[in-house]
Amino acid sequence: MTCTILVGGQWGDEGKGKCITYLCSNDNPDIIARAGVGPNAGHSVEFNGEKYGLRLTPSGFVNKESKLLIGAGVLVNPEVLEHELEYLEKYDLKGRTFIDPRCAIITKEHQEKDKASQYLSKKIGTTGSGCGPANSDRVLRTIKYAKDIKELEEYTIDVSSEINSAIDNGKDVFIEGSQGFGLSLYYGTYPYVTSKDTTASTAAADVGVGPTKVDEVIVVFKSYITRVGEGPFDTEISPEEAEKMHIEEYGVVTGRRRRVGLFDKEFAKRSCMINGATQIALTCIDRLYPECAGVNKYDDLSKEAKDYIQDIEDSVGVPITIISTGPDLVDTIDLRK
Ligand code: GTP
Ligand code: IMP
Ligand code: MG
Repeated sequence: MTCTILVGGQWGDEGKGKCITYLCSNDNPDIIARAGVGPNAGHSVEFNGEKYGLRLTPSGFVNKESKLLIGAGVLVNPEVLEHELEYLEKYDLKGRTFIDPRCAIITKEHQEKDKASQYLSKKIGTTGSGCGPANSDRVLRTIKYAKDIKELEEYTIDVSSEINSAIDNGKDVFIEGSQGFGLSLYYGTYPYVTSKDTTASTAAADVGVGPTKVDEVIVVFKSYITRVGEGPFDTEISPEEAEKMHIEEYGVVTGRRRRVGLFDKEFAKRSCMINGATQIALTCIDRLYPECAGVNKYDDLSKEAKDYIQDIEDSVGVPITIISTGPDLVDTIDLRK
């Protein structure tokens, strides 16, 4: 019986979607619960040769046995939810996907406010998904909850009771965060952050699980850094340098070009400290070391890649248990076995 939380360690887009898909397919948790801010996220899942972009649905959806829950702390845009339930129809989401009645609801007005505000859209560089204005209305206690929306009635369930009784009955629970440590409203590069804390403690609170119930915290790091939107990061390199290294990237939700930088060990250490990391998942090692693409045994990695990974583990002081060598879930080295 294990309750695991997975969160992003950098500025989002670390490859959480891929890691969650792998872990949930492999470990078969009874419940997969989505924490984090809301539909500002864009998780990519590649499975059986197909590629999915998700904003709200838990990335573990490919496991058809698991119950998929969205916690009370997560903002829900009913249109995005409906769209994803249809889009992922062949995974039989209906009947096993539920949201908490206390999820706050994003409206068109929230999205318009997000896009119309020069401060939010230009200075901060938000995703325009309405999350900031919605969380603001939540704090002002004017926002509507899922329980107030008639059309959502069939999807609502008390998520915290579901998860806590699963834990009490010895079942496995997997909690997935979104965004990343550097975007935390508390610990990130304020004001260039998202509208909420993004660390593991808040992920637990998002789904109604107390800290004493959590067994493992997996922090996901990309082998280099990417960031979308404005705000500083110390190890940034120029777009030309990123192209030379073949590590340029574009966003899932907005299609914006991601800014790129080198791995920052000091930042990673702090991220692991505040998240209480027990394990690290390291992704995109194949982008830095193309000879490692698709490798799924540690011994088959090149010496350069092994040295790079070992150096990160030694500097950060947390075991690297998952190494991702490509976007598909089969491109994974699992050192937990
Ligand atoms: P957010 O919730 O937005 O933070 O998303 P995320 O952490 O799920 O990451 P996102 O899917 O936005 O971006 C990661 C990108 O890297 C996607 O295109 C993935 O398919 C891809 N990816 C993930 N792991 C690997 C890997 O190990 N190698 C390669 N080459 N691509 C990867
Ligand atoms: P907001 O969350 O839309 O308000 O955007 C605030 C900041 O967080 C901007 O810099 C966004 O680019 C960034 N952000 C929000 N969600 C994600 C994500 O899922 N991946 C990467 N960056 C994100
Ligand atoms: Mg993303």
